[in-house]
Amino acid sequence: MKVLIVGSGGREHAIAMSVKKSSRVEKLYCAPGNAGIAEIAECAPIGAMEFDKLVAFAKEKEIDFVIVGMDDPLVGGLVDKMEEAGISTFGPRKNAAILEGSKAFSKDLMKKYQIPTAAYENFDSPEAALQYLETAKFPIVLKADGLALGKGVLICNTKEEAIEGVKSIMMDKHFGDAGNRMVIEEFMTGREVSVLSFVDGKTIKIMTSAQDHKRAKDGDQGLNTGGMGTFSPSPFYTEEVDEFCKKYIYQATVDAMAAEGRAFKGVIFFGLMLTEDGPKVLEYNARFGDPEAQVVLPRMKNDIIDVMEACVEGTLDQIDLQFEDNAAVCVVLASDGYPVSYEKGKVIKGLENFNDKDGYYCFHAGTKQTPEGIVTNGGRVLGVTAKGATLQEARKNAYEATKWIDFDNKYMRNDIGKAIDEA
Ligand code: AMP
Ligand code: GLY
Repeated sequence: MKVLIVGSGGREHAIAMSVKKSSRVEKLYCAPGNAGIAEIAECAPIGAMEFDKLVAFAKEKEIDFVIVGMDDPLVGGLVDKMEEAGISTFGPRKNAAILEGSKAFSKDLMKKYQIPTAAYENFDSPEAALQYLETAKFPIVLKADGLALGKGVLICNTKEEAIEGVKSIMMDKHFGDAGNRMVIEEFMTGREVSVLSFVDGKTIKIMTSAQDHKRAKDGDQGLNTGGMGTFSPSPFYTEEVDEFCKKYIYQATVDAMAAEGRAFKGVIFFGLMLTEDGPKVLEYNARFGDPEAQVVLPRMKNDIIDVMEACVEGTLDQIDLQFEDNAAVCVVLASDGYPVSYEKGKVIKGLENFNDKDGYYCFHAGTKQTPEGIVTNGGRVLGVTAKGATLQEARKNAYEATKWIDFDNKYMRNDIGKAIDEA
């Protein structure tokens, strides 16, 4: 079959690598892709939000199956457009992608169906939000309602900070229209776990767990980023946690969406916090995590096309989802200065060191092919992933592999997976 992946980051490279392993796939395309994806797929220079062009391309190339990796086109309704054109597509339709596209929607859903999450209020006007802060407890969490590249969440320690936050989100529109509405919620503490799942509208199958490192600097200091590294599985995701989530969170979310007439097909990413009162949902995403996909997918034993097709066809109950009994760690190599400002166009050396090395992967995030070779083209440049029999071994392997790559202004965190030692 012919497959088209929509997206351009490390997540899409990890998806592409899994798809490439499928014996059912004869030709793989990606739009727009990146320099790494271009080594295993034919990339088309079409943006992920250029829906009409993407549909025309899929028709022209007689694509049998489309996989939408990114949040923006999912929330914007690319899956609906592809389906209208008769093309089988993996990912939630627009009416279901709202689970990620509107935090106010997802909070109301959790409240209505009693899914554990932080206490909250939604606000349509800055005046009402400012009024609410007068009697609120601090720290408090402000969230822009819409998509904001993972940056629309502000944790405010004082009332003054929160007032500034409301102004920046709702009045100065720091995150654009994402700030037309906002959620103000209770500040929770605990370890975070990312759990990705496949969903076919009614059945949900949980993938192996992972943990992200969102802050830019060692020791969880610095600004929030798209993610500086991950490990999988999370040793803190115990059987007890799994049982709780299966009982109160996973199926409950799928059933809630179906009951609302928004049957969800695709990947639901549960951002969980393991609080003293039990696991609670921090957020939902309607897609694979990035860089969670880079540690979860290399450990998946199934043919990814079989699983994704089952999600589209509603036959996921017949899939026995299996993961290797090992571990993986991903260390993101970024451009120094990310997420604020950084230089691009630096030549990347050493990529060939990953060729044919079993258990080692170099996923491209922000890279570009030029006459001088492959150069840096974004804040997050590469995701260096290694497997190991244990988390400790995977971490050692991943950090060893980061030395194989060199470019000017290379920056990484040195403590990805440090929490493993506390487990
Ligand atoms: P989100 O995009 O909603 O996952 O938020 C981004 C990050 O902000 C999360 O990964 C948490 O580290 C933090 N966060 C979000 N909501 C809360 C909360 N209610 N309490 C504490 N931290 C939070
Ligand atoms: N790594 C977090 C995310 O993909 O949203």
